[in-house]
Amino acid sequence: MTDPQIVLTERVQQALARAFGQEHADADPLIRPSQFADFQANVAMSLAKRLRRAPREVAEAIRTELSDFPGTIEVSGPGFLNITLDDTWIAAEAAQMLDDARLGVGTITPAQTVVIDYSAPNAAKEMHVGHLRTTIVGDALARLHEHLGNKVVRQNHLGDWGTPFGMLIEHLLDIGEEAAVAQLEAGMGTEYYQAARAKFDADESFKTRARVRVTTLQSGDPETLRLWHVFMDATVRYFNKIYEMLGVTLTDADIAGESMYNPMLQKVCDDLEEAGVAQISEGALCVFPPGFTGSDDKPLPLIIRKSDGGYGYATTDMAAVRYRVHDLKSDRMLYVVGADQALHFRMVFEAARMAGWLPDTVSAEHVKIGMMLGKDGRRFKTRSGESVKLMDLLQEAIDRATAAIADRGYDEQMQREIAHAVGMGAVKYADLSVSHDSEYVFDFDRMLGFTGNTAPYLQYAQARIRSIFRRGGVDPATATGPIVLGEPAERALALQLLGFGAVVEQTTALSEPHRLCAYIYAAATAFTDFFEQCPVLKEGVEPDVRASRLALCALTLRVLETGLDLLGVPVPERM
Ligand code: ARG
Repeated sequence: MTDPQIVLTERVQQALARAFGQEHADADPLIRPSQFADFQANVAMSLAKRLRRAPREVAEAIRTELSDFPGTIEVSGPGFLNITLDDTWIAAEAAQMLDDARLGVGTITPAQTVVIDYSAPNAAKEMHVGHLRTTIVGDALARLHEHLGNKVVRQNHLGDWGTPFGMLIEHLLDIGEEAAVAQLEAGMGTEYYQAARAKFDADESFKTRARVRVTTLQSGDPETLRLWHVFMDATVRYFNKIYEMLGVTLTDADIAGESMYNPMLQKVCDDLEEAGVAQISEGALCVFPPGFTGSDDKPLPLIIRKSDGGYGYATTDMAAVRYRVHDLKSDRMLYVVGADQALHFRMVFEAARMAGWLPDTVSAEHVKIGMMLGKDGRRFKTRSGESVKLMDLLQEAIDRATAAIADRGYDEQMQREIAHAVGMGAVKYADLSVSHDSEYVFDFDRMLGFTGNTAPYLQYAQARIRSIFRRGGVDPATATGPIVLGEPAERALALQLLGFGAVVEQTTALSEPHRLCAYIYAAATAFTDFFEQCPVLKEGVEPDVRASRLALCALTLRVLETGLDLLGVPVPERM
């Protein structure tokens, strides 16, 4: 539909083809928002060079071809095209959007199967803040793809297997199942791990027991597997508390941890070796994908089986690629994982392509997640230098939000609901609004601020629109206009709203939630300007003006609600 920039791009391309020949139909018209008009197109300058003609002349020729355009076009300066859309066109498009249940957001046809690997905390340790971003960004991407009609398969690739489990299980036997479960459910995984580790380092007999236990676990001994389940179930119950608190859509059905691939690993190795993709090097089974070299210029190995016969992180990921392509039938795979694992994924994807497990028709993308920093610019830690417990962090966000709204006179129940939405919304939005691969500073004061590009500002904007409807005694669903644009602020708001569909599609295609955040923020700001300059309910406002403005309010409300919901940011009714 209606994104003006896309409509303009198509129109100008058609004009280019008519004026200069079909070979120019795909040229980028270089359309940008402009301070002198709604948009400017800069294509005349670049095209003039190629055509060896004066830029202004080229611009004039384009303008002539756009004579039926719903707006005015002026040639200015060296050859800019300044484009201003007609108010009636904007109003008609806005009315159409208001009438559309999907607000101009398309659906992808044919639907794709998109496998999204996200969250993926390690069970041998407490879920820490580093996994906050992978969880939040991945969940937003899952929601976006589903909204566009894709089939999403969530895969929570838990770190739930490997040598640490020997000592973790022995420690469980030492302290007793009940005590272990209580500790793990309470989110004390780090303490649990550290206690086991300390014994492992100090106590030879414990170390021996732990090593033997790794072997019995790997051999599938039923009692050892039962103990492993006791440990994992308690840990997953804690993860689920965090997901629930955050409103993350992951369920137990999405768990596809490293342990799941264990039975496939030997075959992974055998198949890679037989196909000649992997070879033995210094006792280890390795793939050497071309183009990867170490600091010494030697080819870099992806180690599939260690020289002691053990499997590692790369083995599991090779099995996962094959499973996701072959069994899950994925068209597109997103790995929402820390940026520090970029090399690992490049090598895994390349090795999988070499093996023929990852056909060219399937894309595999590492959605790189930047590190979360403390205010001191270093890796996020508590003052005493330990890593921060996620549950504590989330609770603090809610406590601070509670304090921020304490004086608003809500009853207890309402206050709890709003504080939860504001606290969790703030944490999530702060994560989503910066580009996912950049590092970002975790700062409660900034993320909980009621001004600027924050969740509370946006939540407040939508709550304010709802209160307009409450005060006017109008159901937003009945505010259907007609839309007539008079004031510049109304026009600017309507123009902004028209871009919603395009930005949702682009955000999804590029896996970049910050684009949608920037858009929603711009829409909320445009609404704030509108609201300051254009009275809606005030006495003396003509009925048709009131109806039009209410329709704009209703459209803004739906854009804000839908947009925030696609990001997984909760929208409280009141604030
Ligand atoms: N558990 C890993 C970590 O915490 C992330 C796993 C990501 N997914 C994958 N398929 N490797 O670093």
